Amino acid sequence: MSSPKTIRWGILATGGIAVTFTKDLLVDPTTRGVKHIKHTVVAAASSSSKSRAESFLKDVGAPSEAKAYGSYEELVKDPNIDIIYIATPHSHHYQNAMLCLEAGKNVLCEKAFTVNAAQARALADRAKEKGLFLMEAVWTRYFPLSVYVREQITSGRIGPVARVFADNSMATNPEEAWKDGKHRMVNPELAGGALLDLGIYSLTWVFQTLYHTQPESARKPPKVLAALKNYGATQDADETTTVVLSFPRSEELGGDAHAIATTSIRIATTPGGNTDAPGIRIQGPKGEIQVFPPAFRPTKTKIIGKDGSVEEKEWPQPGPGEGSGWYNGFGGGKNAEGEGHGMFWEADEAASALVEGRKEGKYEGLEESIVIMEVMDEVRRQGGLTYPEKIETTKYPTQL
Ligand SMILES: NC(=O)c1ccc[n+]([C@@H]2O[C@H](COP(=O)([O-])OP(=O)(O)OC[C@H]3O[C@@H](n4cnc5c(N)ncnc54)[C@H](OP(=O)(O)O)[C@@H]3O)[C@@H](O)[C@H]2O)c1
Repeated sequence: MSSPKTIRWGILATGGIAVTFTKDLLVDPTTRGVKHIKHTVVAAASSSSKSRAESFLKDVGAPSEAKAYGSYEELVKDPNIDIIYIATPHSHHYQNAMLCLEAGKNVLCEKAFTVNAAQARALADRAKEKGLFLMEAVWTRYFPLSVYVREQITSGRIGPVARVFADNSMATNPEEAWKDGKHRMVNPELAGGALLDLGIYSLTWVFQTLYHTQPESARKPPKVLAALKNYGATQDADETTTVVLSFPRSEELGGDAHAIATTSIRIATTPGGNTDAPGIRIQGPKGEIQVFPPAFRPTKTKIIGKDGSVEEKEWPQPGPGEGSGWYNGFGGGKNAEGEGHGMFWEADEAASALVEGRKEGKYEGLEESIVIMEVMDEVRRQGGLTYPEKIETTKYPTQL
């Protein structure tokens, strides 16, 4: 077998998810059975200072020769970088991703991909013109659990999916947690709100089960009906949003299918941190697939057949393992010793695409990211939620 190809990453931003992603990225891929690629980090940039990038590289355990930059503009000029991972707030994704593409860099960009569909389209067009790889970092799609769920659907196990319920809600007290209203979850200047941050996962489950599993030529955008409640303190950021979707589908493939995608920053999918009720239910005439919370990092599935049969599966995340002294997690959370967070799967896919010369991810291409952004645009239109022009614009460069 040929030796693994090493992909050289640059990390743009040094906040919470950049740390989690980069720690996962540096885990030996053979711990998850991946042998054809390896990852390394050759540089990181902070928009605030070079020293912040230096401490980031130290915290995540990057190779000592990795370079620290005090601006994103310097990072994109580094000739040793194969691909840049963007981990700024979504308000900044369009400007940051365009900066990378203009500099000739491949891009893996955090969710939500952009603020609106026009920005996503402009990025996709530029990547195509430049022959560069571009992918939205919806990590959950790349989990073996998600691959399994999609395979159960395409194999016909529950029959044509007729209805999906998908919730991703996070029980916070926003007035307490984000008192000054400046946090990216509630700040309109940073495209705050439940829909773009959390609702994207509810829509991910709807799309990966009702849209992605259809033959490419049969995929059609859904009709959308939305209810959106704004967060009182900062107004132009949604607190709770509910979306009813109707996917047109030929009679031969099962006829139209429905979905309800819900999200909230105030109430929980299951209160008290319990994970015993399914946040995702995928229903067909022959049975139902259930996925247990959290929707973004699930580790349990259950398939209930029409005959009453029940099949449960656990999907623990691999990693360096117990006794390694290595830990990862996000925010206040800490996973068990040696347990990866699960962000390496999307990194493996991006790296594999570079090796194979593909320009898009195989489990969510740019066309699908754009359709999902169109749905979120329509939800915001019906709910009357707009963000400041400087973060909605496709004008590049725009100073943020
Ligand atoms: N996949 C997941 O599980 C997951 C989880 C959480 C978040 N996310 C996504 O990742 C992105 C970042 O989230 P996060 O939780 O990491 O946020 P964060 O902790 O606030 O970090 C964001 C980073 O972006 C940079 N930045 C540049 N301009 C900024 C500005 N005007 N305001 C704030 N930060 C700015 C900063 O890094 P520098 O100073 O170094 O430039 C900052 O540390 C969001 O799009 C979010 O949706 C994904």
